[in-house]
Amino acid sequence: MPKMAPPSILTVVFLSSLLSCYFLCFISPVSSASALVRKDIYRISCGAASNQTDSEGRVWIGDASISASGNSYLNLNAGKDVSASSSTQNTQLPDNTPYLNARIFTSPATYSFPVSPGRHWIRLYFYPFGFSPFIASDAVVTVQTDTYALMQNVNLSYVMDATNVVFIFKEFSVNVTGNFLTLNFIPGSSRNAYAMVNGIEISSMPDDMYENTLLTVSIGNSIPYPLPGTALETMFRLNVAGQTILESADPLGRLWSNDMEYLVGARQGTADSVSNSVTYGKLDNFTAPQDVYNTARSMTNDNALNLQFNLTWNFSVDANFTYYVRLHFCELEYDQMNMRVFDIYMNKQMAFPQYDVVAATGGEFIATVLDFALLYSPGDEPTLEIGLYPNITSKPSYYNAILNGVEIFKLNDTTGNLQGPPPAPRPSPNLPASPSTKGSSSHKIVKIVGGAAGAVAVMAALGIIAFCFCCRRKASGGRSPSWLPLPNPGVNSHSTVSKVSTTSRKTVGSYVSSVPSSNSRYFSFPEILEMTNNFDDTRVIGVGGFGKVYKGTLEDGTTVAVKRGNPTSEQGVTEFQTEIVLLSKLRHRHLVSLIGFCEDDSEMILVYDYMANGPLRGHLYGAGLPSLSWKQRLDICIGAAKGLHYLHTGAAHGIIHRDVKTTNILLDENFVAKVSDFGLSKTGPSLDHTHVSTAVKGSFGYLDPEYFRRQQLTEKSDVYSFGVVLLEVLCARPAINPTLPREQVNMAEWAMHWQKKGMLDQIIDPYLVGKISKESLKKFGETAEKCLAESGLDRPTMGDILWNLEYALQLHETSAEKEMDTSNPRVKEINVKVVPEVELSETDVKKMETSHNSAMFSEDSDETSASAVFSQLVNPQGR
Ligand SMILES: *[C@@H]1O[C@H](CO)[C@@H](O)[C@H](O)[C@H]1NC(C)=O
Ligand SMILES: *[C@@H]1O[C@H](CO)[C@@H](O)[C@H](O)[C@H]1NC(C)=O
Ligand SMILES: *[C@@H]1O[C@H](CO)[C@@H](O)[C@H](O)[C@H]1NC(C)=O
Ligand SMILES: *[C@@H]1O[C@H](CO)[C@@H](O)[C@H](O)[C@H]1NC(C)=O
Ligand SMILES: *[C@@H]1O[C@H](CO)[C@@H](O)[C@H](O)[C@H]1NC(C)=O
Ligand SMILES: *[C@@H]1O[C@H](CO)[C@@H](O)[C@H](O)[C@H]1NC(C)=O
Ligand SMILES: *[C@@H]1O[C@H](CO)[C@@H](O)[C@H](O)[C@H]1NC(C)=O
Ligand SMILES: *[C@@H]1O[C@H](CO)[C@@H](O)[C@H](O)[C@H]1NC(C)=O
Ligand SMILES: *[C@@H]1O[C@H](CO)[C@@H](O)[C@H](O)[C@H]1NC(C)=O
Repeated sequence: MPKMAPPSILTVVFLSSLLSCYFLCFISPVSSASALVRKDIYRISCGAASNQTDSEGRVWIGDASISASGNSYLNLNAGKDVSASSSTQNTQLPDNTPYLNARIFTSPATYSFPVSPGRHWIRLYFYPFGFSPFIASDAVVTVQTDTYALMQNVNLSYVMDATNVVFIFKEFSVNVTGNFLTLNFIPGSSRNAYAMVNGIEISSMPDDMYENTLLTVSIGNSIPYPLPGTALETMFRLNVAGQTILESADPLGRLWSNDMEYLVGARQGTADSVSNSVTYGKLDNFTAPQDVYNTARSMTNDNALNLQFNLTWNFSVDANFTYYVRLHFCELEYDQMNMRVFDIYMNKQMAFPQYDVVAATGGEFIATVLDFALLYSPGDEPTLEIGLYPNITSKPSYYNAILNGVEIFKLNDTTGNLQGPPPAPRPSPNLPASPSTKGSSSHKIVKIVGGAAGAVAVMAALGIIAFCFCCRRKASGGRSPSWLPLPNPGVNSHSTVSKVSTTSRKTVGSYVSSVPSSNSRYFSFPEILEMTNNFDDTRVIGVGGFGKVYKGTLEDGTTVAVKRGNPTSEQGVTEFQTEIVLLSKLRHRHLVSLIGFCEDDSEMILVYDYMANGPLRGHLYGAGLPSLSWKQRLDICIGAAKGLHYLHTGAAHGIIHRDVKTTNILLDENFVAKVSDFGLSKTGPSLDHTHVSTAVKGSFGYLDPEYFRRQQLTEKSDVYSFGVVLLEVLCARPAINPTLPREQVNMAEWAMHWQKKGMLDQIIDPYLVGKISKESLKKFGETAEKCLAESGLDRPTMGDILWNLEYALQLHETSAEKEMDTSNPRVKEINVKVVPEVELSETDVKKMETSHNSAMFSEDSDETSASAVFSQLVNPQGR
């Protein structure tokens, strides 16, 4: 890769923010009434003999039916065109319409659409298929309007191959000055070359939507920019940190895709989302759909950390053009000015210093945009980089930055041309080609479509219901856990679900990566090799059904866990993708976070947060690690219960873990428990089913007997396994130990034998003897017993378990306090030997209690209502 051109060659022009422009220009009632009126809409399925409806319910007019009626948009110079159709369905196409029909031109031909003057979207769909005697690789297309060259000599098959896409979609915006919009299709010049097109969409758009007076930042004064006579080609349109938004969900028929693919560096920040609707402030409500503003990417919760990186997106472009970049903003967390202030860089040059979204909009949940122009000169690096960095000059409350959406358009050059050079050929398939290796520009033009469609595909294929996080960081307490499983009250979570099921009507194959990467980063295989020192065996930190887990280091020094799928492992591609889809959507203090993944070269690699203290099991027995105190064990069980509770209830559809065990509960450097390994997860029962039938998976010794018999999976199967975990924590022995006498082999049976006699204390971890209060042990034993009930119906929910464990902790701490009060020296002595936290001053105990109580009522304790806690506290015999 050539070095980045000196930034000075690139001129950053700032189109004065729409904010001021709307003040200046749109205050007049005439233009503010530029409410969306789509005067002209044509949707043509080229070559089709009849009208067709696509999977989004839109009707496409068959142009052959129109020509038959003598009222054609199509003018042929010499009548040399062919209506073609294909009966070969490609399952990777998003739809049959308009792709499976085409009009083939062997000489120049013109479509001309009667329109009213003004700006129009032109959308062109290309999917060359063989139609004897025409072969797909001879399709070479030039498309011109009267004024602009939209595409020049594009060898469609070549571009599709070079950019690894299944079809080509192009979107342009042109100003039509007369009463007709004409599209000339011209075949390439080689002997057999022909032009073709499958679908054409023409739709009027608000004239002033992307129009502005420009301010050159480096010069510091305002210059008129020749936009009125300029055509735009859409290069990228991203719903930052959000889901794909389909054409039918956008008032202007635009497609928005996720931004992950374009993020640079390991620091991805966090994906924020709210479910309440935002207001458009001074913007027109068609500027972007609500979902664009509802989701945003921001930095982390850690001020110091945020000063160490830029939140950066990188796009590849044709360097000889000028680009129009529109950034969409909406503050979702802070309602005051000077709480989040940041600099915006474009190609490493300051484009806007000290931007404060709330200062620009006047409040929280109000949308705004900033428009920039980037001029490139010959020889510039063909990349467009957007960077956000906290500006702390004004001492803002938080050092952070935010972005909700991006649109990048190419402007025609002075000759009216929009066509760049052809993309470089695709690297040989033997090389570990990474989708994050940016190719040339048209590569990305198409990829923006492919990537989005691919994401839709996998979503559909896996049948994963994407649910939105209704999580919002509170403006106070920037350090508190930011991901809350609480749905926002009053929000209809079904709206999200139904939106996705609309999406899943598209059955699309994958173009770029078969994995939707909504919140996780893509790593190339070479990056993974570097991270793990070529899978150095000394870095192995675990081995599971899936393969080995390595300790790795990111370029910024962050330690991560790299889980490499063994191609022959039982946990196959489906589980791999399930895990990515699930994990990248789930964020919770008690779930292990997925950082990214790698799919190159049929590798299946997952990169997680590194959990410094490893699996819980190692701290219970067998690894020679120091024993955990009873309080620590209770805290860990409570944490794991919260994680599972969140999986079961925090999502629109519950998620069943299916493999709850002590090796899947990991501990971070502070011994905070995090549930891991969703490889076997399946979404839980939907409303009309009470179970999910599935092959029995899971680990021996933890398996729900009911599930085993009937192969019916419910959340209560996780509850059973969690009961086994509780006993393992108490007894510090494996769930199955074949070396023991027969009646003791299965811990659950053995422990229940003693529990039923009220003598569970006989078999607890010797280390704990004398260090657990009777009451706490009793509560804990009862809880485990209920979890292990033969019938799922008799087992408690994770929420019930959570509160019983909290209560067991409370009982333990109360008794510890009581013991503090006695002056019995023997008790003191025991305390000293035992758990460090028992050896506390009275104020410490008070503090502990208070913090514990507040924790019970804090957001982190999620769904179960405060009254449930309260009733349990006032009525200790209650449960
Ligand atoms: C297709 O739709 C157009 C516009 O709605 C209509 O004029 C035309 O008659 C329809 N053609 C057929 C074959 O139904
Ligand atoms: C288009 O590109 C393909 C390679 O992808 C090549 O085989 C074909 O000859 C090209 N077509 C023309 C008309 O140049
Ligand atoms: C379109 O072109 C006409 C004629 O050149 C011009 O008056 C008008 O301002 C242009 N409108 C837009 C939205 O570019
Ligand atoms: C936008 O606002 C107009 C009224 O100004 C309203 O009729 C229209 O439904 C709104 N559109 C959306 C997508 O909210
Ligand atoms: C952020 O980006 C700007 C512009 O590229 C650069 O000058 C600065 O050093 C970057 N800061 C960090 C911490 O990477
Ligand atoms: C950019 O334009 C220059 C001449 O103006 C040309 O030599 C160069 O090949 C072009 N580069 C690209 C990437 O189109
Ligand atoms: C922060 O804002 C000030 C004032 O606009 C500006 O001079 C400075 O370059 C910005 N960036 C940093 C990193 O201070
Ligand atoms: C785009 O093309 C038109 C027509 O050739 C021209 O008038 C206009 O200046 C061009 N725009 C730019 C930014 O060069
Ligand atoms: C940005 O993308 C270009 C080409 O796609 C690549 O050469 C460059 O290394 C990327 N920059 C970063 C910082 O990733």
